[in-house]
Amino acid sequence: MNDLATLVATARSEFESCHDPAALENVKARYLGKTGALTELLKGLGKLSAAERPVAGAAINDAKRSLEAALEARRDALAGSRLEAQLAAQALDVSLPGRSRGAGSLHPLTRVQQRIETLFHSLGFAVADGPEIEDDFHNFTALNTPENHPARSMQDTFYVENAMVLRTHTSPIQVRYMETHAPPIKIIAPGRVYRVDSDATHSPMFHQVEGLWIDRDVTFADLKFVVTEFLRRFFERDDLKVRFRPSFFPFTEPSAEIDMAFADGRWLEIMGSGQVHPNVLRAVNIDPQEYQGFAFGMGLDRIAMLRYGIDDLRVFYENDLRFLAQFQ
Ligand code: PHE
Repeated sequence: MNDLATLVATARSEFESCHDPAALENVKARYLGKTGALTELLKGLGKLSAAERPVAGAAINDAKRSLEAALEARRDALAGSRLEAQLAAQALDVSLPGRSRGAGSLHPLTRVQQRIETLFHSLGFAVADGPEIEDDFHNFTALNTPENHPARSMQDTFYVENAMVLRTHTSPIQVRYMETHAPPIKIIAPGRVYRVDSDATHSPMFHQVEGLWIDRDVTFADLKFVVTEFLRRFFERDDLKVRFRPSFFPFTEPSAEIDMAFADGRWLEIMGSGQVHPNVLRAVNIDPQEYQGFAFGMGLDRIAMLRYGIDDLRVFYENDLRFLAQFQ
């Protein structure tokens, strides 16, 4: 029965070298199938003598059982490794941090503008708007700054065709508002303004918030109160210092620069202000004998720099996500 032992050994090694179930079933057919090698051997038993038959029969059946066991084991092994491969392919590491899309956020200047609007709203101011490309009359002349007035050179700007300019300040919004509304007037007007200026604290495009309060008896004391109250609320800091420095603007009289500082910081000029000049009221047909009030023009970027502790204005305009993402 040496042949039988060889047959079993060959079959076993063929089972072992099968790496997928279909191939294994083909090999099985060659040994254990209807016309398989072992089946043929069993069929051949009839030709043996009665004495030889039981011994040979028992040996073939042993071989058959051992091959069936080997086949079963190989089937299990293949099924097992298939499952493992499947699991490995679908592996999911639930301990990994999620991938988020990075939600956008408002630009720090937008946030500061909204905060300013909210605070002035609570002090009774409405919000007004006006064009960024402005005519000479609204940007200068109506603001008591006639042609050839030296104050025009303080606000060197970008000239567009037909005596139009990129507005140098938000003050023309005052004029436009007074042309279309009768006193009492109590507005702020935030917006972009332009000047030929560029360094760490100046940008050719920056932002101002204009303020205007006109009524029968609005005084310089009201200006001091409103500005100080606003700054105190805006910065929420007890060590906030405010100072009014005498200055000149053609459209206000008297005029003052307003500076602010924290106890530990240096003074920074943040707005121009003053009592609206009678000539400005006359230019928009408001009688200066009846009405008076104050105006201010505040540097929104300056205020934002102070609020966030930024020392270079230009970072607001570089769109560097490493900077912007800090305001989410
Ligand atoms: N418009 C002035 C400027 O841009 C600021 C200002 C506004 C001053 C209103 C007085 C009154 O410098």
